[in-house]
Amino acid sequence: MSTINTEHYWMPFTPNRAFKKNPKIYTKAQGMMMTLADGREIIDATAGLWCTNAGHSRPQIAEAVQRQLLEMDYANPFGFAHEKAFELATRLAEEIAPAGINRVFFTNSGSESVDTALKIARAYWRKQGQGNKTRFIARQKAYHGVNMGGVSAAGLTPNRAAFGPGLEFSHLSHTCLPENAFSRGMGEHGADKLAYELEQQIAMYDASNIAAVIIEPMAGAGGVIIPPKGYLQKVRELCSEHNILLIFDEVITAYGRLGAGTAAGLTGVTPDLITTAKGLTNGAVPMGAVLASQQVYDAFMQGPETAPELFHGYTYSAHPVACAAALATLDIYRDEKLFERAAKMAKPWEDGIHRLDDLALSTDVRNWGLVGAIDFAAGPAANGTEGLTRAQSVAAKALEKGITVRAAGNTIMMSPPLIIEQGHIDQIFDSLLEAAAEVG
Ligand SMILES: Cc1ncc(COP(=O)(O)O)c(C=O)c1O
Repeated sequence: MSTINTEHYWMPFTPNRAFKKNPKIYTKAQGMMMTLADGREIIDATAGLWCTNAGHSRPQIAEAVQRQLLEMDYANPFGFAHEKAFELATRLAEEIAPAGINRVFFTNSGSESVDTALKIARAYWRKQGQGNKTRFIARQKAYHGVNMGGVSAAGLTPNRAAFGPGLEFSHLSHTCLPENAFSRGMGEHGADKLAYELEQQIAMYDASNIAAVIIEPMAGAGGVIIPPKGYLQKVRELCSEHNILLIFDEVITAYGRLGAGTAAGLTGVTPDLITTAKGLTNGAVPMGAVLASQQVYDAFMQGPETAPELFHGYTYSAHPVACAAALATLDIYRDEKLFERAAKMAKPWEDGIHRLDDLALSTDVRNWGLVGAIDFAAGPAANGTEGLTRAQSVAAKALEKGITVRAAGNTIMMSPPLIIEQGHIDQIFDSLLEAAAEVG
């Protein structure tokens, strides 16, 4: 490792100078485990960055990618196509999307999926002669990727602060309410109060100016923020009543994370557009997909048949190698029944994480599907690392004990691969309990 020149790589979302003084380098990833350069094996309690839902380095995906690279490495997606693009779109419509959502636009990331969905929403209203509908509504603490549309939607201040004006967005409150602290799954309180804010926003800006509401059904990167019971339904009702499109950003929640293909399917709340990425290819090859309702698609299928209906797309949309990886991933999800497995393991996961409820310094513990978060009291820990919050110190200590979790601010977040076993759950929460006790 000492031979690596760390100078030239400008790392994303990383304190580059601090990292380069003390680099943490991964060398291997298999199943639930990652290996560090010093040879230590650690449990990956975050599925990479919420993406390796079927576990790491699956041979089936690697072989599909290799075969595809040798057969056809690339195909121009503008005006041409290849068979796997259609096959994948069909399977996403039939196996992943909820009823009524059956058209697929391919991108290369979650950020591109978000910006694609925002553009589709604006263009949709123009197609209907309602070009004034350009505004969007999002939420505080939302993460919608890092392209300009997604940054405008973002509810995380550091992700917006350095980048100047964006699109016309307003932001509703996030849904992490103190009265729901320590809930198992969705909290009981607050749906009416939170949805009322949307009514107020619509009254303020007028529906004739609003293109879409975009929300993560469960906010991920902003701290695993779970909606209270009934909230998503109320948001859907308001959007329908006022003729506003609803976009679910399911970059994290799709592909089994909550025990179903999508949060929309799980909750029975159907938006007009769903953005996805990450678990689509098990994180192995960059790819995203925007899933659209037939109604949205049909609105575009008018005018001269020889002109593109949507002037939008990427050089790598429906890339053959990404399609091959996604098809192999969907095979694994289906054959190993991983979404059902996630639903089954959600209960032991819930029981495991709520062992931390009694820690004196945890202010909230929450879970949904195979996702969990622990909030720690603000500030540094008695025996913590200088410059780190208590949560970050606990995460650093947990790493020493062989577990990788994600710490942001005062929150520790976890989203393990769906292949997790009871033994991993025990190890993760034993280690976190020990780590929290040690840092104080
Ligand atoms: C809800 C959500 N939307 C969008 C994105 C952006 O995805 P990507 O990093 O693939 O661009 C993320 C990434 O974590 C996400 O969680």
